[in-house]
Amino acid sequence: MNITNIAGARKRHTTLSLEIEKHDRAYYSKDAPIVSDAEYDRLRAELTRLEEQFPELISLLSPTQKVGAKPAQGFSQIIHTMPMLSLGNAFERIDVENFIDRVAKFLNIPASDVEILGELKIDGLSCSLRYENRVLKYAATRGDGQTGEDITANVKSIADIPQTLPDNAPDIVEIRGEIYMRRDDFEKLNREQARLGKDKFANPRNAAAGSVRQLDASVSAARPLKFFGYALGFVSAPFAKTQHDIRTNLRAWGFPQSEPMAATNNVDDLILFYNHVENIRAALPFDIDGIVYKVNRLDFQERLGNVSRSPRWAIAHKFPAEKAITTLKAITIQVGRTGVLTPVAELEPINVGGVMVSRATLHNEDEILRKDIRVGDRVVVQRAGDVIPQIVEVIITDRPKDSAPFLFPHACPECGSHAVRDDGEVARRCTGGLICPAQAKERLKHFVSRLAFDIEGMGDKIIEEFYDEGLIKTPSDIFMLAQKLKSLSLPLETRDGWGAQSVANLLSAIDARRTISFDRFIYALGIRQVGESTAKKLAGHYKNLSILLATISNSDELQSINDVGPSVAHDVIEFFGESYNRDEMKTLQSLLMIDDYVPPVVQDNPLRDKVIVFTGTMEQMTRSEAKARAEQWGAKVSGAVSANTDILVAGADAGSKLKKATELGIKILSEDEWMNVLKSIS
Ligand code: IVH
Repeated sequence: MNITNIAGARKRHTTLSLEIEKHDRAYYSKDAPIVSDAEYDRLRAELTRLEEQFPELISLLSPTQKVGAKPAQGFSQIIHTMPMLSLGNAFERIDVENFIDRVAKFLNIPASDVEILGELKIDGLSCSLRYENRVLKYAATRGDGQTGEDITANVKSIADIPQTLPDNAPDIVEIRGEIYMRRDDFEKLNREQARLGKDKFANPRNAAAGSVRQLDASVSAARPLKFFGYALGFVSAPFAKTQHDIRTNLRAWGFPQSEPMAATNNVDDLILFYNHVENIRAALPFDIDGIVYKVNRLDFQERLGNVSRSPRWAIAHKFPAEKAITTLKAITIQVGRTGVLTPVAELEPINVGGVMVSRATLHNEDEILRKDIRVGDRVVVQRAGDVIPQIVEVIITDRPKDSAPFLFPHACPECGSHAVRDDGEVARRCTGGLICPAQAKERLKHFVSRLAFDIEGMGDKIIEEFYDEGLIKTPSDIFMLAQKLKSLSLPLETRDGWGAQSVANLLSAIDARRTISFDRFIYALGIRQVGESTAKKLAGHYKNLSILLATISNSDELQSINDVGPSVAHDVIEFFGESYNRDEMKTLQSLLMIDDYVPPVVQDNPLRDKVIVFTGTMEQMTRSEAKARAEQWGAKVSGAVSANTDILVAGADAGSKLKKATELGIKILSEDEWMNVLKSIS
């Protein structure tokens, strides 16, 4: 069909989209497909052609934008028995040295006694495999680290994943590793996609992820997926003493191990290994994005534990960024969730190591001044892995004669309010607060993001569109969207890019999130300086929203919470002191079920729920390890002695805290006694 005008194109686009969505449903819900593959492909090809001719028809909801990734509602959820973590990054040798020093300090041993195993960092998607009685029970994606998707059926056909383990394996063992696709297999798959008129995958990682997340497991089965196991989750009986033992055992059980690897006590050797791998990187059959260094001894790993979302015992040493030269067309200003003005470089699009880059961050106004970056300059752009591209330097010799330094605005480009820079701060902030549409939109995006309400399908574009139309102005509007839509004279489903099914999907994704845990709720509010870990601590302290709203104005109480200092306390009190925010909380309370915070279950022990203060110099364990151990056993560590304190652990030369605790009749432990308590429960 040859269409030349936009009105006709729009009509045809809607008809085609609805038709394709109908076939997708029939296909993915495993009913027999209604049409042949060839007919389906013809419809998709027509839609793609139409969008090429009329690009304004492309929207996030168009079926062309959804190939490869199926609606995630289709997978059931699996709660990880132990969270799946991510890794901190190192870029330079000094970062690696600092990592080893941190580890040594924490363990109170010389850095030369820390043996590190270096291993390839596979660029795929992580997966947790649980074996019960030596039979594969389930496979789960990482998801948000706490809850993943059940992909058991999809991994059954991966030859690198044994279905059963030998008799010497423990009764319960969880194996974590990376599902990936080899580069040659990826090229082949893309040739096949092209032949079928389907969208190509951008890189092997996307191809692997798209293949695993197929609701129809027979589609996954046809894809050439591979697996490397590299870490353990829950294990019912220990079988390894080192990371190296894990590799040996996993290999013996049938899990391929990535090569090469190195184990050493010496930073020089680690860097040699890193450089060697970088040299052979292109010759490896699969993509890697760095080296992972892991403390080899598992007892050390256990003592080191985690900080927030990453283990203290491992770090990823990324390969250096790829660079390219292009022209800076303009500098625009983005306004973030907390009002920070971030300058963005708008670039002549350029290929940097296989990815097209047209924007880069310029960080802040000082950075622009320091590098003297001007519009019209030729600039060096670099991109490292998944990090936002940056401008490294300006090629001064190519500078146009009439160029002028960039003047950073003192007013918010979005709402016109003053943009001020407080003493000692690098950031300039818009003072518009809630009247600033940019801040409001960014808060909404944060509110629905993965670690917050995690509303499937509610992406940035939809938030922007709905905000601009007045459909969603505040978080609570999201949960009243269904009513709002009913009262519209022009229903959503009659507009571009929307079909009845996509509207229904969005509303059901919203409904699926009406129940939320209190800690996630606090995180979702997007309070300045309150990330996931502080949100958990606030939730643990206040237990529920009603108590929090009634008592939050007390800064001393807030600061008694471990890791909450005066500055965080100030931001939290300011947020909840704002009557607009309090009203919004009440509205949300009426629309949602906010579950009281349930602390992670810790088995009964003498430290559980106790408030502990450490003071004086400790010799057998560093302060940070002592704190981590106390928290691991369910205690709260506080910085100040008060009537609430249960135990004071006093090292050498303890001063005023010891005196105060004695006066208050608080239980006092010497360092040796503290070590004995730990021994008795470990
Ligand atoms: S160890 C964090 N070893 O990198 C828990 N991770 O950027 C232990 N990854 O989420 C992970 N290759 O998915 C480990 N040899 C390797 C790895 C590896 C790739 C992934 C993993 C992790 C991500 C962090």
